[in-house]
Amino acid sequence: MLPNIQSYLAGRGLSRESFSLGLHSPGRINLIGEHTDYTGGWVMPAAIDKGIEFYARRIDAAELRLHAVDLDQRYTLPLPVTGKTGELWVDYLAGICAEFQLLGHEVPGMEIVFGGNVPRGSGMSSSAALEGGMAFLLNQVLGAGISRPQLALLCQRSSNNFIGVPTGIMDQFASLNGSAEGPIMLNCESLEFSPVSAKLPGYDWLLVNSMVTHELGSSEYPVRVRECAEAYAAVKTAFPDVPNLSSTSPEQFAAVAEQLPEVVRNRGRYVVEENARVREMAKALKAGDVKAAGDLLNATHAGLRDDYAVSCPEVDFLQKQATGAFGGDVAGARIMGGGFGGCTINLVRTTDIPALQEFLTGAYAEAYGKEPEFYGVEIGAGTCRI
Ligand code: GLA
Repeated sequence: MLPNIQSYLAGRGLSRESFSLGLHSPGRINLIGEHTDYTGGWVMPAAIDKGIEFYARRIDAAELRLHAVDLDQRYTLPLPVTGKTGELWVDYLAGICAEFQLLGHEVPGMEIVFGGNVPRGSGMSSSAALEGGMAFLLNQVLGAGISRPQLALLCQRSSNNFIGVPTGIMDQFASLNGSAEGPIMLNCESLEFSPVSAKLPGYDWLLVNSMVTHELGSSEYPVRVRECAEAYAAVKTAFPDVPNLSSTSPEQFAAVAEQLPEVVRNRGRYVVEENARVREMAKALKAGDVKAAGDLLNATHAGLRDDYAVSCPEVDFLQKQATGAFGGDVAGARIMGGGFGGCTINLVRTTDIPALQEFLTGAYAEAYGKEPEFYGVEIGAGTCRI
C-alpha cells in the first residue's frame, strides 16, 4: 500500500483489512506514435510502475463515498449517476459509472479511497489511471466480465461523451493492457497489439519533466482532432478505400496535399509520417539499432514541434540541449504525450545519465529559472488486484 494512503487510512482508524478490494492502476509512457491514436494509428506505449491505488468496500447506501487522498478531498456521489458534478476528479469516476449504467448495470453503494504516485503534470496520464482503475474496479465488483480492451473502450467513451474531451484510446489501453515485459505496439483501429522489447544494451530511457503544465493542450487538442478529420476528408474523397488518416500512404497523402490549407496539410503529413516511424522503431528496437531509434525520436520531435505545433519553448530547449549542447551520448529525444509541456523522453547511454541530469539542470535554470525533474522509465504491469 502506498504510504500516502496508509497514513490517510491510519488517521481514520482504518487499514487495508477494512477494504474488500484493492487494485493498482498504472500511468503510462509512450516511446513513439504520438497524436496518432485518434486517427486509428500505431502507438508504442507502456504501463509504468507508478500509478493509482484504489481500495473499496460496499456500503449500505445508494452513493459512492469518495476519498481523493492526494487532494485531501472527499465527495459523496449519489447513485445512479445522472450527470456531471463539476468537480473534475469526481467526474472522471462518475463518467465510468455512467458508462456501466448505460450497459444496464446498477452501480452498488461503495466507499472508495484512492491515491497515487504519478508525478503531476508530467504527461504520464494519471487521468487515464483514474478512469481505468474505476472501470476495473466496477468490472470486478459487478462481475461484469468485460475484457480489458473493452474496458479501455468504455473509458474512452467516458472521456469523449461524459467528460467531453475527444481523446484517443492509447492512455487507457496502455494502463489496462500493459505488461511488465515491455511496451506494446498497438493499432488503435483494430486494437490488435503485441509486446516489444525496449531494452537497448548500454542505454536507458530517461524522462525529463519541463515542469510546464499543459493548459493549452485542453483547448488545442480538439482543434488537432478536427484538423485531422479535415485532412482525412480529402483523402477519403480521392481514395474511398482508405479507412482513416493513419492508414494513408505517403503517396496517397501527397496526391491530395496541395488541395489542403497549409496548416491542415502539415498536420496530416505529420500523422502519416509518424505512423511510419512507429513501424521503423519496432524494427530498430528488434535490431538493437540505437542510432536508428534515436533518429526516429528526433524526427518525431521535429514533427510535433513544426508540423503538429504541440510543443513549447521550454520542452524544445530541453530536447535540443540534450541532443546537442550536451556533449555526451543521447541518441535521441522527443516531447511525450499530448504536448504543450510535460516530459521529454530521452534515449541515453546509461553511464551518461548523471552528467546529462547535471547539464540540463544547469542549462534549464539559466534559461528559464526552473529545475527539471528526472525519472527513469520503469515499465510495469497493467491494472491488477493487490
Ligand atoms: C493524450 C491523449 C491520448 C493521445 C496523446 C497524444 O495523452 O489522451 O489519447 O492522443 O495525448 O498521443
